[in-house]
Amino acid sequence: MRTVVASLKGGSGKSTVTFNLAVWLAMAGVRVRAFDLDPQATFSDVIEVRQDERTKPVLKLEGGIDDLRGATPGEGEEVLVDVGTADMDALNAAITLADRILIPVQPSQADIWSVQRFLRMVAKQRDEMPEVLAFINRADTHHAVRESDEAAAALVTLPGLRLLRPRLRQRTAFRRSFSEGQAVFELEPRGKAARELLALAAATYAHILT
Ligand SMILES: Nc1ncnc2c1ncn2[C@@H]1O[C@H](COP(=O)(O)OP(=O)(O)O)[C@@H](O)[C@H]1O
Ligand SMILES: [Mg+2]
Repeated sequence: MRTVVASLKGGSGKSTVTFNLAVWLAMAGVRVRAFDLDPQATFSDVIEVRQDERTKPVLKLEGGIDDLRGATPGEGEEVLVDVGTADMDALNAAITLADRILIPVQPSQADIWSVQRFLRMVAKQRDEMPEVLAFINRADTHHAVRESDEAAAALVTLPGLRLLRPRLRQRTAFRRSFSEGQAVFELEPRGKAARELLALAAATYAHILT
C-alpha cells in the first residue's frame, strides 16, 4: 500500500511520524520503500543520522516523484511518503498516487481549518477519494486541557476523513528521535512516547498485523 503522510501545515509532525512508522514497519519484517518528497528533507536527514550511527534495521530512501510512480508495492512491501507544501508539484503527484493519506493534526482551530482545506484539495484532484486518515499529534499532556478532545470532536465530523483514535502527545522523546536517528520505541521502549507510537502504528497498519 502507498501511504502518503501529508498536510498543508509545516511542523505538524509529518517527518516524525513517517520516520517512526518506517522503523516500525522494518522491524515488523516489511520491506519499506521510503520517499522524501519534501525539499526540507527532514526525513532524509534523520535517515542519514541513522545510517551514520549504523543502527539496525537499516533504512534507505528511494528517489523522487518518477520513482514513486513506478513504485507499486508488492507482497510484504509498504510505500511510505513524506511530503509537504514546499513542493506543490510533489504534493499533487503524491496525492494522485496515494492509496491513502495520513494527516498529523495539532489540536488547534487553525489546524482543523487546514485539514478541511486539504480535504477539498484532495477531492478536487481525485475522481475517487483515497482513504484519508488523521490523528492528533502534540496533544497536551495535561488532562485538564480539553483542546485535543475538541479537535478530535471536530475531526470526526469531517466527511471523507477517518480519525485514528491513538494520539501522540507533546513529548521530548519525539524530538530526540530526530537527533539520534532512532524511533521512540528504540530510544525508550517502555516510555510513554513508545506506547503512543505503537498504538498509532497498530491503528495505521492493522492489515499487516492480522
Ligand atoms: N509529539 C511531538 N512531541 C514533541 N515534539 C514533536 C512532536 N511531533 C513533532 N515534534 C517536533 O516538532 C518539529 C516538527 O516536526 P516535523 O515532524 O519535522 O513536522 P513536519 O514534517 O510536519 O514539518 C520537530 O522538531 C519535531 O521533533
Ligand atoms: Mg517534515
